[in-house]
Amino acid sequence: MYKNNLYLRALKGETVERPPVWMMRQAGRYLPEFIKIREKYDFFTRCRTPELASEITVQPIRRYGMDAAILFSDILVIPQAMNIEVEMKPNFGPWLPNPIRTQKDVDNVIVPDVTVELDYVMQAIKATKELLNNEVPLIGFAGSPWTILCYCVQGQGSKNFDKAKEFCFTQPLLAHTLLQKITDTTIAYLKEKVKAGVDAVQVFDSWGGMLSPLDYQEFSWKYINQITEALKDDAPVIAFGKGCWFALEEMSKSNVSALGVDWTINPKMARKFAGDKITLQGNMDPSRLLSSPFEIKKIVTEMINNFGKDKYIVNLGHGILPNIPLDHAKAFIDAVKEYKA
Ligand code: CP3
Repeated sequence: MYKNNLYLRALKGETVERPPVWMMRQAGRYLPEFIKIREKYDFFTRCRTPELASEITVQPIRRYGMDAAILFSDILVIPQAMNIEVEMKPNFGPWLPNPIRTQKDVDNVIVPDVTVELDYVMQAIKATKELLNNEVPLIGFAGSPWTILCYCVQGQGSKNFDKAKEFCFTQPLLAHTLLQKITDTTIAYLKEKVKAGVDAVQVFDSWGGMLSPLDYQEFSWKYINQITEALKDDAPVIAFGKGCWFALEEMSKSNVSALGVDWTINPKMARKFAGDKITLQGNMDPSRLLSSPFEIKKIVTEMINNFGKDKYIVNLGHGILPNIPLDHAKAFIDAVKEYKA
């Protein structure tokens, strides 16, 4: 199907010559060719213009030759489509001027027709598939319902998402109503993305680790699992829960094809919790890309040896940072391509 099928083969658990590699947030701020586009167009214009979104998606592939591309977009296009205002402020991040706090706020949130409201994403996927020319698969994504709720209620990024937690713990029925609306929208959205051409979908639960194991079940995993169940006949689903090592065992019993892990757990422990039937993805500390290229290669080789080359996708434990030197990112990718068992 693709000239390079390593990523899809690893998701199926097939034996591979070497594991595939890509980097979370690979289409972004550390690339000079990206910064050039950013100087001319604001964030959501880049997301909404298929020519720009597709160009940004393939930029890292052209430069480094990762084994998969991830569509340039954002998890916050979902709340936008649900009638919630979302801005992206330069050097600040997401800003939602009217955060969700009351019954009336939740009532005003709609489950939209994604084929209309998010058609620009589908057009971006089609444009990207053209540019990729069957070289590598394309990953689509969404935020987990809990992580989306975090932004909708907090109104901006946060170190602890205290207002989001307060909302869930003082008005749980309202929180579940909102989570279900986000889940229904996300399922419809991801199904459309698969129809438009993405080969797998990753659910980013960036703030799952903010919750206790018990609350994680109730406010996050329950909804990710609904998404996985709904998508299981459409495409492989990868669940990435940052800080969620405590849930790996439970997550591995679901219909996900792979689990993302961050750097707060070592590979052997992650394998022990998740079992050896499921594909794991991760987990180098993104700040480790500041080490020398020589050291990066050593760390990557050891990481592959510890996860095992099969049922494994090499990645960072979270998104690549803006201050990473270009040749260090290259060392990360090259180390995987040069890997010999
Ligand atoms: O992986 C990729 O390269 C694809 C593109 C992608 C973006 N956002 C582009 C982006 C993906 C997969 C995301 C997901 C996303 N967005 C997450 C989950 C992953 C994670 O990092 O935890 C979250 C929490 C968001 C919300 C978001 N978007 C924040 C907090 C910010 C500001 C901080 C930051 O990362 O710069 C954004 C903006 C954003 N999304 C940028 C990019 C390239 C940078 C702003 C810009 O380009 O103008």
